[in-house]
Amino acid sequence: MGTSSAALAVYPGSFDPLHLGHVDIIDRALQIFPRVMVGILENAGKDALFSPAERVAMIRELFADQPAVEVQSFSGLLVKFLKELDATIIIRGMRAVSDFEYEFQMALMNRRLYPGAETVFLTPKEEFTYLSSRLVKEVVALGGDVTGLVPAPVRARLEARYRKATHPPTS
Ligand code: PNS
Repeated sequence: MGTSSAALAVYPGSFDPLHLGHVDIIDRALQIFPRVMVGILENAGKDALFSPAERVAMIRELFADQPAVEVQSFSGLLVKFLKELDATIIIRGMRAVSDFEYEFQMALMNRRLYPGAETVFLTPKEEFTYLSSRLVKEVVALGGDVTGLVPAPVRARLEARYRKATHPPTS
């Protein structure tokens, strides 16, 4: 195994938006691997709140002072992205037993498609185990407060996005 492939761990996902459970997983991955590439899936459904470019920009900004964290979007198969990066490690967060079946299927499929690929599951802090991007969006859309659940700049962008949606500018 070459050194470059062992050094870079890829953390793929939709990140629409990134929340503190994701940040916790990135921090944990950095305890094990020297570099983490956050890979944002581009074609993650039409009803995404933020475009892939917006998500890349937001996450890059959040980790601007951490050169060990890189951010790129990708389309198509995750294993293709891994091969392009000469990486073999996939990081995934495992919050609860309910995540297990989907994660297990993905890990085995990815290994079948790319036998060199290895998925490393990390568990977030207990306080983030119930957190999901879908719930965060729902709470903000209904006027709830997500302070302490997402990074402050993400909260600001979420609130701005939903304010725009409920109060469209009048001409
Ligand atoms: O955060 P998510 O939405 O649970 O992430 C899912 C993701 C992006 C990791 C997964 O959908 C993915 O890897 N998609 C890329 C397409 C692919 O490779 N599919 C086969 C993998 S089993």
